Amino acid sequence: MPIDQSFLDELTARCDIVDVVSRYVPLKRQGANYFGLCPFHNEKSPSFSVSPDKQFFHCFGCGAGGGVISFIMRAEGLEFRDAVQHLADQCGLVVPEEQRDPRAANRRTRTLALLKDCARFYYDTLWKPENAAVQQYFARRGLTRKTMNRFGLGYAPDSFGATMDAMLAKGYTKDELVDAGLAVRNERGHCYDKFRNRVMFPIIDIRGQVIAFGGRVMDDSKPKYLNSPETFVFHKSRNLFALNLAKKTDRDYFILAEGYMDVIALHQAGFDCAVASLGTSLTEEQARMIARHTKQIIISYDADGAGQAAAQRAIDILKKCDLQVRVLRIPGAKDPDEFIREKGPDAFRRLIERSEGHNAYRLEQIAAKYDLEEDDQRIAFLQDAARLLATFENAVEREVYQGRAAQMAGVTPDAMAQEVKRQTAILRKQRKKVEHREIRSAAQRVQPQDKRLRYEDVHSARAEEGILSLIFADNTWIDRLADKIEPSDFSAPVLAKIFAHARTLWEQGGVVSIAGFEGYLDEGELALLSGILSRPPILTGQEQAMADYIAIIRRCRARRGDTPAGGEDPLLALAKQKAKNVGGQ
Ligand code: GTP
Ligand code: MN
Repeated sequence: MPIDQSFLDELTARCDIVDVVSRYVPLKRQGANYFGLCPFHNEKSPSFSVSPDKQFFHCFGCGAGGGVISFIMRAEGLEFRDAVQHLADQCGLVVPEEQRDPRAANRRTRTLALLKDCARFYYDTLWKPENAAVQQYFARRGLTRKTMNRFGLGYAPDSFGATMDAMLAKGYTKDELVDAGLAVRNERGHCYDKFRNRVMFPIIDIRGQVIAFGGRVMDDSKPKYLNSPETFVFHKSRNLFALNLAKKTDRDYFILAEGYMDVIALHQAGFDCAVASLGTSLTEEQARMIARHTKQIIISYDADGAGQAAAQRAIDILKKCDLQVRVLRIPGAKDPDEFIREKGPDAFRRLIERSEGHNAYRLEQIAAKYDLEEDDQRIAFLQDAARLLATFENAVEREVYQGRAAQMAGVTPDAMAQEVKRQTAILRKQRKKVEHREIRSAAQRVQPQDKRLRYEDVHSARAEEGILSLIFADNTWIDRLADKIEPSDFSAPVLAKIFAHARTLWEQGGVVSIAGFEGYLDEGELALLSGILSRPPILTGQEQAMADYIAIIRRCRARRGDTPAGGEDPLLALAKQKAKNVGGQ
């Protein structure tokens, strides 16, 4: 593990999970636990619980769960190490440098250096005289040399090995190139350049480091764009194109566009607050990143149907982060890039001034679907609009748009108000139903939510969960179980992993709690553990329960045809001994 466990113990001891979570979600005490609205999914009644005793959170709705570090990872969209740093900063602790795994730290540093060298190589290649045609491609698209330099644009040569050779010459290895997403290895183990004959857009993180690339063809061939795959330094859902520049803007709003070229054109036109997601639809993490830098966001997506549908989805995501959302429409051009090239920056500024609040925008989008001259279509519009208005939380807002919708449909405000009331009731009922279903299914959930962790033997897994639950409630069970059950007796690998790690923590003299599992288990595994721990504990008859669990596990194992614990076959016994040693490390 890269960070020393005793430091993590001290950190988690100082950062009380109730305090930390309270900064994000208002919590109310209810019995032994605190409850609030889950910050990780949309809900109207609280199913998000925080246990002050066991220092973990668990949502009965969406299944998210873990300790204080995982909470910060999710809430802030951070990696484990950065979440630790974040918490350490808040309580004035210093993350021990020397305890960083030198190999891990080195891998990151080297990969970032490689990506930067590669960006440099693409840049140099672009400006070679023989690539004048590529330079002209950018010129034709209206980019100045200054803009191209600001974004570090480049060109990947038309070759299967030129980029790789250049990087190998600098001392990087093929493995490192594959690791960084710059080279691809085929089934025969042969490596070749991922990006060939493409203009290159470096993707730069908020700290200014090149973490990936997008590459575009210069003609109509497909795929138009090729992006770096997810790597350990690049997560496309947690980064935004040009955020490193936009975070320095003086403007009090951000512009969210769809494409790299849109963002670049906007910056060149003086809108240095433009960002874009990285070839996927906007994620909640990206919305939260935006909300950390501005209060107001103007969505400026492509004019086509796909762009407008994406805008609707983005509105919902951005609104959850309390951003003021406006939507800009681009008349007579397909995207901001084309509009600016044809009509100029001033015309775009006027579009911004005329951009509508998202409510008006949505109402217009609905109205556009109907011919309001026709009576039956007016009725359909009325219902459709009322469904939208019913979702408005703010009464004043609802009132205003209710009036506007009534006017558009040519009905009295009263008639509109009636319909909105009806739709509000329907909506409320639906929401209740969904939440009930979510909570019920969470309570009855037999299989882990994370599909990778599916139990092969549900009956045995339930007993294994029971054992873990008792161990966490009373750590001395670990000693008492020493010669009764082994991780290798477990049917579910994830539960065996948790059991083995609990034993390790205990043997190292630590307390077995969820804090010791953060950074060791991944998100899905932690959520599973928090779910197990959030079930009501067995208070009496623990001995009997434990004996039953062990019996069930043995029985299930025999039925599956595995050798029961303490099997006769010496080879199997040896393998088991090995597994035990591995598990106990
Ligand atoms: P231009 O056609 O050069 O003006 O590009 P654009 O930036 O306007 O792109 P477009 O609106 O077509 O697409 C928006 C974004 O979606 C791009 O910037 C890419 O991030 C992504 N994208 C577009 N086409 C592809 C594709 O074929 N594959 C992948 N992976 N991403 C794409
Ligand atoms: Mn475009």
